[in-house]
Amino acid sequence: MPSVRLSALSVFTVISLVWCLAAPGTSYPLQDETDIADLRAGNPMHNFQVRFSWHNISCPLCKALFTIVDVALLSDTNMEHVARAVGEACIRLHLAEEKVCREITELFRDDFIRALQESVLWPSEACGVLLGPSCGHFDIYAPWNVTLPKVPKPPVVPPRPPKPGSPQSRVLFLTDIHWDAQYAEGSAADCKEPLCCRNESGRASWKSRGAGYWGTYSKCDLPLRTVENLLQKLAKAGPWDWVYWTGDIPAHNVWSQTRAQQLNELTTISKLVRKHLGPQVTVYPAVGNHESTPVNSFPPPFVHGNRSSHWLYDTMAEEWAPWLPAEALETLRRGGFYTAQVQSGLRVVSLNMNFCARENFWLMVNSTDPAGQLQWLVHILQEAENKGEKVHIIGHIPPGLCLSSWSWNYYHIVNRYESTITGQFFGHTHLDEFQMFYDEETMSRPVGVAYIAPSVTTYINLNPGYRVYYVDGNYSGSSRLVLDHETFILNLTLANGYEDVSGGLPKPLPDPAWTLLYRASQAYGLSTLFPSNWDSLIQVFYKEDQVFQDFWYFRHKGHVSEPCKEVCKSTLICFLHSGRYDLLQQCDLLYQAKGQRARSVRKTLC
Ligand SMILES: *[C@@H]1O[C@H](CO)[C@@H](O)[C@H](O)[C@H]1NC(C)=O
Ligand SMILES: *[C@@H]1O[C@H](CO)[C@@H](O)[C@H](O)[C@H]1NC(C)=O
Ligand SMILES: *[C@@H]1O[C@H](CO)[C@@H](O)[C@H](O)[C@H]1NC(C)=O
Ligand SMILES: *[C@@H]1O[C@H](CO)[C@@H](O)[C@H](O)[C@H]1NC(C)=O
Ligand SMILES: *[C@@H]1O[C@H](CO)[C@@H](O)[C@H](O)[C@H]1NC(C)=O
Ligand SMILES: *[C@@H]1O[C@H](CO)[C@@H](O)[C@H](O)[C@H]1NC(C)=O
Ligand SMILES: *[C@@H]1O[C@H](CO)[C@@H](O)[C@H](O)[C@H]1NC(C)=O
Ligand SMILES: [Zn+2]
Repeated sequence: MPSVRLSALSVFTVISLVWCLAAPGTSYPLQDETDIADLRAGNPMHNFQVRFSWHNISCPLCKALFTIVDVALLSDTNMEHVARAVGEACIRLHLAEEKVCREITELFRDDFIRALQESVLWPSEACGVLLGPSCGHFDIYAPWNVTLPKVPKPPVVPPRPPKPGSPQSRVLFLTDIHWDAQYAEGSAADCKEPLCCRNESGRASWKSRGAGYWGTYSKCDLPLRTVENLLQKLAKAGPWDWVYWTGDIPAHNVWSQTRAQQLNELTTISKLVRKHLGPQVTVYPAVGNHESTPVNSFPPPFVHGNRSSHWLYDTMAEEWAPWLPAEALETLRRGGFYTAQVQSGLRVVSLNMNFCARENFWLMVNSTDPAGQLQWLVHILQEAENKGEKVHIIGHIPPGLCLSSWSWNYYHIVNRYESTITGQFFGHTHLDEFQMFYDEETMSRPVGVAYIAPSVTTYINLNPGYRVYYVDGNYSGSSRLVLDHETFILNLTLANGYEDVSGGLPKPLPDPAWTLLYRASQAYGLSTLFPSNWDSLIQVFYKEDQVFQDFWYFRHKGHVSEPCKEVCKSTLICFLHSGRYDLLQQCDLLYQAKGQRARSVRKTLC
């Protein structure tokens, strides 16, 4: 069995990546919140299905594809032919640009061949995972439970606003920087690859837009100058009490990344952050899904040697050593997660959310609490509760988008420790949103909210941006709850300058301003930002459409073309309610039952 899983692993890694590359635009609401995604219930691999349906790939075709792989495997002792067969299938089925197909196959070849040598993956198993139970059966994600201590849950005291004049902490939040070292001003902003605005995208012409100086509204990441400009501005906008930084440093050229490049990007940006913010500011980073190559590939500790993540975690531990205590660096090296005391009475837990992600194919080998991370979290939370500490949880992928069992357990933990966990901070979707947690008994009393902050990068069609949280401050008895937040953007239309009427090149501003887009309390008329306030705000979204449209505008950092109505609105509101994966699935069932197509279970970004 494990060997079947291992070979499944490799084949999926290649094929899903190819699909991921083939449909990069489909995860973005501007184009597709009401689009063709057609989800079937109970399928744990929605994202693949989205990709398959996007390309209209049917069960027979999927099996045909895997038959090509298997036949090639049986008839050729040289496994390289198998890799080539996948590459050819990728090209012939028009899953991606030929160059992308070839390069991605090349990138995966070694892992791929080694795993295939161990066994054969049969088409019905593979397609069962990819397309759902009606196309085959392969039960890889068995449910599991963490163990909670016998200590009874302390009585819940509803939060109260702090006394006027109480100290507040100002916390900078950065996520999804996605620096593209190949970004080239004037290159084509539209291209067939998943990432444009690079020399290889071609030159812009009279009929195609060019990449802007500071960034581009397209499938593009950011040039270094924009990241540096941001860090310069952040240094002036301080002081910051501390910083949360939830990962995704490299660009979206996932078909051509090497370990050396990934590490170079990690060290370059980590050093820049430290240089600009200064040595006295502590930054608490988290590991994103793009830090590794192949993207999303985060082998849990049961994988040893060169295929493990040591190359990545060891460099992180070195780069982040100035910010983190020794015990934190220890767990960081082992599993990419850690805990550290921020101030007396406040602890941060940085989770490696790649251990919850369906895109992390290593979890097909064993998805039971990878690295024991959630059991470890329970232990940390119980210790914090015993000491009367509050805990902030940071991570890259929002827990509601995780594999079902991981997500269920996380929700369960948030329920048990609702009085201890006073903040949850995530990124990854590149959009400004949030997800609610309710009490498990009645699913009506709000017990928590996971903030999902917008990206620094423009990818796709967004303004660059960042978030500031105002947290109940450093004093005895502080709730450490988020009291307010602000979102800042770089208005690219302004920064890149207008096209000259005489047909000349636009003149970019030499030093553009990062400006306040909105302050949550003001924009939504909230006096506090407790979980119950966010729950009430969702009710307001139903009744006052303008408030919801404001949220929609902010969600895209002030760059949207169309309003979000009807199915788009219902699906998004359902998403906000559903901090757990099975609840998200229900959203889709609900709207499907009404004969409408909806997708709140969104695939995570490739
Ligand atoms: C996709 O498949 C559906 C039915 O499965 C079919 O009606 C439709 O024509 C197909 N579209 C394309 C572009 O092949
Ligand atoms: C996990 O716990 C829930 C309820 O506490 C229970 O319904 C479920 O069967 C358990 N699952 C496993 C795999 O033990
Ligand atoms: C892109 O090409 C231009 C012109 O050949 C060159 O000056 C520039 O350095 C290139 N940029 C990158 C990022 O390679
Ligand atoms: C480890 O793996 C990487 C990526 O697959 C490869 O480039 C490198 O040569 C390997 N190193 C050793 C010592 O095998
Ligand atoms: C999967 O991992 C869990 C936790 O590490 C372990 O208890 C379990 O035995 C593993 N399952 C298999 C099939 O190896
Ligand atoms: C936080 O408050 C404690 C006392 O409650 C104090 O000892 C500590 O120095 C303060 N930390 C900061 C960073 O202000
Ligand atoms: C950005 O600037 C343009 C041009 O002034 C303006 O039309 C647009 O509303 C601005 N966008 C935001 C989010 O402020
Ligand atoms: Zn990202």
